[in-house]
Amino acid sequence: MKTRRLGTTDIEITPIGLGCMQFAGTRNVARWMIRPIDQESATQVVRAALDGGVDWFDTAEMYGNGNSEEALAAALKAAGIRPGQVTVATKWAPVGRTAASITRTIGDRLRHLGGFPVDLHQIHFPTGSLSGIPAQLKAMAALLKAGRIRSVGVSNFSARQLRLAHRVLAAEGVTLASNQVRINLLHRNVERDGVLATARELGVTLIAYSPLEGGLLTGRFHENPALARSAPVMRRFFGRRELSARGLARTRPLIGAMREIGTAYGVSISQVAVNWVINRYGDTVVAIPGASKPRQAAEAAATMEFSLTEAEIGKLNELSLI
Ligand SMILES: NC(=O)c1ccc[n+]([C@@H]2O[C@H](COP(=O)([O-])OP(=O)(O)OC[C@H]3O[C@@H](n4cnc5c(N)ncnc54)[C@H](OP(=O)(O)O)[C@@H]3O)[C@@H](O)[C@H]2O)c1
Repeated sequence: MKTRRLGTTDIEITPIGLGCMQFAGTRNVARWMIRPIDQESATQVVRAALDGGVDWFDTAEMYGNGNSEEALAAALKAAGIRPGQVTVATKWAPVGRTAASITRTIGDRLRHLGGFPVDLHQIHFPTGSLSGIPAQLKAMAALLKAGRIRSVGVSNFSARQLRLAHRVLAAEGVTLASNQVRINLLHRNVERDGVLATARELGVTLIAYSPLEGGLLTGRFHENPALARSAPVMRRFFGRRELSARGLARTRPLIGAMREIGTAYGVSISQVAVNWVINRYGDTVVAIPGASKPRQAAEAAATMEFSLTEAEIGKLNELSLI
């Protein structure tokens, strides 16, 4: 599958990147979202992604306060990857901080990344900072002009916030590369809330997080509802409606159709889920599935080897409107 341009920057990336929240370790809040894995497992996951052709990685300060960044860098080095050979995206955590902390913490990001550059630096959330969005974007623009980061992105921004971010950066002569938001077959809000249309108009790439809805769109809970009890605590809490018997009954027809389509291609339900994300919206959207096992990363990467037809995408669209 062809690479896609990150916004209007000169950065080309594969339609699938690897989400690295799974490398957050046990040090902070991210541990309640994931099944923490050790360095050896993280190394195998990264290697499987690379072997499958994935050429970029998404991490964040919030994923273990540097743990995920360090684990990613160590895994890339173990795989013989040198800085500049892959694209690395990370994020600044805004909660309780002023925009000045963007400048203050870039050294930490680079140190944790152990020589890998910050190709994309993102504001993790539009809320929680003690400074307004314009001040945060201006600090990002200054980092870019100082050569410390290669491009600027945001995450969880609404259409209105996206427009504001774009305008503030444009005044600084900087382009807004991306907005990282939740997009999957059960979460198609971007189609209704203006985020997709605004991103297309402004030339901003949408980076789809949780493309598997945290594992729900793999069909594993439909096959074995008891598994929900062992899901990470925050996934269980936020997904309690979807994971309930009634919720699973509602999505069973969708999972059934995904299984049927997957069987025809010789791929899994999860690969159909991710393929829908990267084909439904054309080049505007790329996806960052997370993986705690090498097999999951290999499956995610292999999603780039086939394309659902318009008819299959249409069928899944209908069944996902529940
Ligand atoms: N910007 C933001 O606010 C934000 C928010 C959330 C996530 N993210 C980013 O997006 C990435 C992905 O999101 P996510 O981890 O929330 O959700 P996801 O990609 O929808 O789900 C990942 C989980 O699904 C399971 N899985 C993956 N491949 C599988 C396969 N082939 N078969 C069976 N199960 C499979 C694994 O669960 P187990 O580990 O339990 O096996 C894996 O940890 C994160 O790593 C992070 O980089 C960003």
